[in-house]
Amino acid sequence: MKFIVIYFLFAYIKVTICLRVVGISVPTFKQRGEPAILTCDYDLEGGRLYSVKWYRDNEEFYRYMPRLRPPQHAHRLDGVKVDLEKSSARHAHLRELTLRSRGLYRCEVSEEAPSFHSAQAEAFMEVYYFPRDSPIITGHDRRYKIDEPLDVNCSSARAFPAPDLYWHINGQKITERSWLIAYGAKPVPQGLLVSTLGLKAPAKPRMKLRCVATIGTHKRERTVLIETNSASYYSGVGGSLLTFISINIFVRDKIS
Ligand SMILES: *[C@@H]1O[C@H](CO)[C@@H](O)[C@H](O)[C@H]1NC(C)=O
Repeated sequence: MKFIVIYFLFAYIKVTICLRVVGISVPTFKQRGEPAILTCDYDLEGGRLYSVKWYRDNEEFYRYMPRLRPPQHAHRLDGVKVDLEKSSARHAHLRELTLRSRGLYRCEVSEEAPSFHSAQAEAFMEVYYFPRDSPIITGHDRRYKIDEPLDVNCSSARAFPAPDLYWHINGQKITERSWLIAYGAKPVPQGLLVSTLGLKAPAKPRMKLRCVATIGTHKRERTVLIETNSASYYSGVGGSLLTFISINIFVRDKIS
């Protein structure tokens, strides 16, 4: 009985003092084209390192085994290009991320014989493609009568994931659902997406429309200024000309 207790105590101590991965550091999100440094921080607690292996979504792409010459080896994986010169026993340096680089990254550390203990940790990396341009507004450059519903759209530039779009009128964010038409995201080449949001708020004089496209904290916006002549009374022969002037909308584009 005493022996069993001592045995379990010993096993327990052995487990707690052996190898552990103290931390994995993988960027939470990155832009396409950027490099990424993945770090696996482990504590061998006196043991000797047998191998460090890195996986993306359970597929191995890099291993470091100090007994081998050379100790490093990289496997080809779509979206994962390991820079061997910059990588080491604790770091995997990835070059030029693509949208296919996103995934769950795991490092697995093993100790030498006789223990062969291993430990692992994982973290997700998202790869973004922020829109390079301001969103585009269409339908604002025609004539609207006062109170006629607008027929305008805002489309983001190509991005990943699909940007969220918001309309503002004179600085006020539009939450009135009946004024918004969500067209969703449309796929475009290279795995990118374009979002479109329509606005059918009633036309008013001196309307400043702003469309904001966001991905996380990244923001792109465009503003168009719509001015209507509110003088809506006219009479006589010049009436049609006056009408033309009064409902004409002056549009200016402001790109931010
Ligand atoms: C707005 O987008 C929708 C969907 O793409 C399209 O059917 C409509 O014609 C667009 N309207 C304007 C004013 O661009």
